[in-house]
Amino acid sequence: MNNILVTGGAGFIGSHVVRRLVKKYPEHNIVSYDKLTYAGNLENLADVKDAPNYHFVKGDICDGELLQQVFADRRITGVLHLAAESHVDRSIVNPMEFIRTNIVGTVTLLNAAKNAWKDDFAEKRFYHISTDEVYGSLGAAGFFTEDTRYDPHSPYSASKASSDHLVRAYHDTYGLPVVITNCSNNYGPNHFPEKLIPLAINNIKTGKPIPIYGKGENIRDWLYVEDHAAAIDLVFHKGKNGETYNIGGHNEWTNIALIRLLCSLMDKKLGRQEGQSAKQITFVTDRAGHDLRYAIDASKIQRELGWTPSVTFEQGLEKTVDWYLANQAWLEHVVSGEYEKYYEKQYGKLSAEN
Ligand code: NAD
Ligand code: TYD
Repeated sequence: MNNILVTGGAGFIGSHVVRRLVKKYPEHNIVSYDKLTYAGNLENLADVKDAPNYHFVKGDICDGELLQQVFADRRITGVLHLAAESHVDRSIVNPMEFIRTNIVGTVTLLNAAKNAWKDDFAEKRFYHISTDEVYGSLGAAGFFTEDTRYDPHSPYSASKASSDHLVRAYHDTYGLPVVITNCSNNYGPNHFPEKLIPLAINNIKTGKPIPIYGKGENIRDWLYVEDHAAAIDLVFHKGKNGETYNIGGHNEWTNIALIRLLCSLMDKKLGRQEGQSAKQITFVTDRAGHDLRYAIDASKIQRELGWTPSVTFEQGLEKTVDWYLANQAWLEHVVSGEYEKYYEKQYGKLSAEN
């Protein structure tokens, strides 16, 4: 598997995967294929852009002709599929873009792989990267396992569930060698500031309100993005065809407890008095269909492939905050233009006094 196509390589997780593969496997060609939507950013890969084994193609996963050409020209032998519309709040406002990219785009990519490999699947692999949100919402107890019934609630999670089913269908119907992982919430450098943690870091720093949906009691299981990239590398090389692996950090936080921890860390980093940043916390109208709790049982990948997270949440959060404070230019570029319009529409004019 030495010519690897990474879709969504300019996004948050994709860029960490591309960087890891480019550096770790100099003998492999890594082709990042990305449409460069608002979430795609070539600055994420500025440090590897001149590496001889890194290649970038600007393209849409719904463009079957371009995919066919890339598979042929680059003699692609493996696919890591991360391209997606990924933000739940945007899926509530505009579900069609999620149906197009996450469902139609995934089938277009499956067809491109199947046709390019001409049904000779020896030494080939199609790896679909998915989310724990396909399993729905947990109550206070229990964990998502690989056998948990799918029960998605948002247009985002429903579109990802649909793509998972289609990937399995191509395995069961055509014998395409596929593997799927479902991961919990990631955080870390290069995370687009529409998601909770980077949005809060940016707002704390700039003195804006930190919007918390509902009462902040919803629970997420957070994993540092480089630990996810390490798991993806492992599953791609060692996972079994036809299998699903859950990936998670065993690291559950209510949103409000997480934001309080982040505020306290930011107080230290910004030289503020303890408790100052927490004054920016602002409770706002809850998200529609807001899933209460996600939590992953990651024992299968640990047992079968030997993967465990390498950083604690406190370490990962500190690395993340340090990265955002050191990469002011990155943040300024991504919060201009389209982001301002999105922010205004999503949050209206919140004031710190709310
Ligand atoms: P992201 O939104 O940061 O990046 C998505 C990337 O896909 C962007 O670079 C974007 O330009 C590209 N893209 C979007 N539509 C495209 C299209 N039609 N054609 C080609 N490229 C397109 O997302 P992320 O957070 O990095 O997530 C990557 C993958 O991991 C997604 O499939 C997501 O469902 C999954 N996932 C994410 C998380 C998380 O916490 N972020 C957790 C589990 C799984
Ligand atoms: P998010 O980062 O959007 O990830 P996901 O919805 O995929 O889990 O949200 C994480 C949690 O934070 C989720 O419970 C929704 C909540 N949230 C807020 O309270 N305020 C916000 O402004 C955002 C973006 C999210």
